Amino acid sequence: MKKIKRDFLTLLDYSKEEIKYLIELTMDVKKNKLKYSKVLNNKNIALLFDKPSTRTRISFEVGINQLGGNCLVLDSKTMQLGRGETYSDTAKIFNSYLDGVVIRTFKQENIDIIALNCDIPVINALTDKYHPCQILSDLFTLYESNLLFKKNMKFVYIGDSNNVLNSLLIGFTKLGIDITVGCHPKYEPDKKLMDILREISKNSGNKITIINDPIVAVKNADVIYTDVWVSMGDEESTQKIYDLKPYQVNKDLISNAKQDVKIMHCLPAHRELEITSEVLDSSNSIAWTQAENRLHTQKALLTFLYS
Ligand code: CP
Ligand code: NVA
Repeated sequence: MKKIKRDFLTLLDYSKEEIKYLIELTMDVKKNKLKYSKVLNNKNIALLFDKPSTRTRISFEVGINQLGGNCLVLDSKTMQLGRGETYSDTAKIFNSYLDGVVIRTFKQENIDIIALNCDIPVINALTDKYHPCQILSDLFTLYESNLLFKKNMKFVYIGDSNNVLNSLLIGFTKLGIDITVGCHPKYEPDKKLMDILREISKNSGNKITIINDPIVAVKNADVIYTDVWVSMGDEESTQKIYDLKPYQVNKDLISNAKQDVKIMHCLPAHRELEITSEVLDSSNSIAWTQAENRLHTQKALLTFLYS
């Protein structure tokens, strides 16, 4: 019987049990590299990247190689996609040659169209709306630090409401873990997504708290997470940067949190904008571990999809 393919598109498509399984599998993948060296034998997986990337692209390429697979790096501009071939037609071609495709692009709908039109797994490597691979690594990093399931753990996201926040909200809601968002009233989380999450919370039991005052938001925090104020593809706006200034993660702001507060950032950072170097490079920062864990969590995801 043909196996029904799974994609990894938004995290909304994964259950609490599956997310927990991926986190636990990552622990084994990280510890026992050789055990997984044949998972992708004879598999060809393409990376289609239409936005810049350092961590995601390198970690997928290295991860696919470490799992024994072959990796092709593509971009729309040098494909017929750039001359108007449709995403659905392109998906049919992917289906003929490839065993999987990892896509970083602008519109979420384009990834969804590809996923609908092929029988191979499609992985979202970031869109304007979601960044689920990042959040797998973030959840694993918290798990490894014994924070993820710690009772009353206070996790605070500070700054812009973007793709990373959307995916964090989904991950925390699926797992039933509370999350606080410290954001400017002009840049609050997506209303449609919040409606979906409210429905999921009814079962998972988590609480999403939105607070406009950054000092109140980070009070007694165990973890503070931030991301850039201007995402790839967003228009640079001096007004937005001005509005978000009070949300900078700096020494003064984090002095309101617990003394051993962990600082997270998906990177790349715009130093001295959303976060100061003093904080990013401090012993509280686990941003570099988060980045390393991208490799291990994505290898676990690929192992899950191809086993
Ligand atoms: N965090 C992240 O996705 O980094 P890259 O843009 O470098 O891939
Ligand atoms: N929100 C950022 C994340 C980069 C990894 C962006 O989309 O540019």
